[in-house]
Amino acid sequence: MVMDDLSNIESVVVLGASRGIGKAVAERLSQCGVKKLHLVSRNLEALEELAKTLEASCVLHSCDLLDDQACQSFIHELEDLGEFPRNWIFCAGGFPGGRMHTTSYERHSWEAVDAMLNLNLRMPMKLTHLIVPELLRDRREGSLIYISSQSGYFARPGLVPYAASKFGLNGFVKSIFPELRENGVKVSIVAPGYVDTPLIPDSPNLDKAKMIHPEDVAKTVSCALGLSATCCPLEFHLLTQQQI
Ligand SMILES: NC(=O)c1ccc[n+]([C@@H]2O[C@H](COP(=O)([O-])OP(=O)(O)OC[C@H]3O[C@@H](n4cnc5c(N)ncnc54)[C@H](OP(=O)(O)O)[C@@H]3O)[C@@H](O)[C@H]2O)c1
Repeated sequence: MVMDDLSNIESVVVLGASRGIGKAVAERLSQCGVKKLHLVSRNLEALEELAKTLEASCVLHSCDLLDDQACQSFIHELEDLGEFPRNWIFCAGGFPGGRMHTTSYERHSWEAVDAMLNLNLRMPMKLTHLIVPELLRDRREGSLIYISSQSGYFARPGLVPYAASKFGLNGFVKSIFPELRENGVKVSIVAPGYVDTPLIPDSPNLDKAKMIHPEDVAKTVSCALGLSATCCPLEFHLLTQQQI
């Protein structure tokens, strides 16, 4: 298999690496030669299992990214390492319970709507707010890659809070691009349709055989990281070949 050569990249932070897309991204980046991976999720055991299989040197961070104080401490931990990571892959997100479910907007409790916005919009915005000053301080280039969704462009009935959170995320990333581009910081949206991960429940209405593989999303991320410093891939759309 031909790999992107990322052996020039010192370190990458993968947020949400315990399963699904984030896990596939960590595996791909290790295969492509990234030297150090910071793997983040709440489930330390899953990160430990993953790290055993990777060639890259791994630093594991058990962190609830919805907890502002925990995020702050996590960023301080990285600052203390001396070399603040320049590449961040935002894979943590999806559905607050870890499983997609659909229902009409009025049937969601307000708490559920709020939790969705927190997970997919507020959390990545908050983290970016903590990361960007570090990147700008040293005038160093970097990449911030956000896993969004096709639901952030074309909504289906039953997914209003999720779609709104991803529309918001796309708006955030596109808004911050002009502020960061002259400083060498790239931002990218990777927007897949259905991906076969633990997020998607078993259902006769959802044909997993037709879904995008997490490895396809991971390849997109490694491709983005491998582009030259003069090129910013702002948006990737990954559609299922056949409709689901
Ligand atoms: N699967 C799809 O069909 C699909 C399609 C389009 C876009 N996406 C997007 O791709 C991203 C990843 O989805 P996925 O399918 O890989 O989901 P997944 O299998 O549910 O994985 C989600 C990851 O996010 C982490 N996470 C969730 N809440 C967290 C928190 N509070 N603190 C730290 N980590 C947290 C989870 O780790 P812990 O639970 O261990 O903390 C896990 O590693 C999401 O943004 C999702 O919206 C998915």
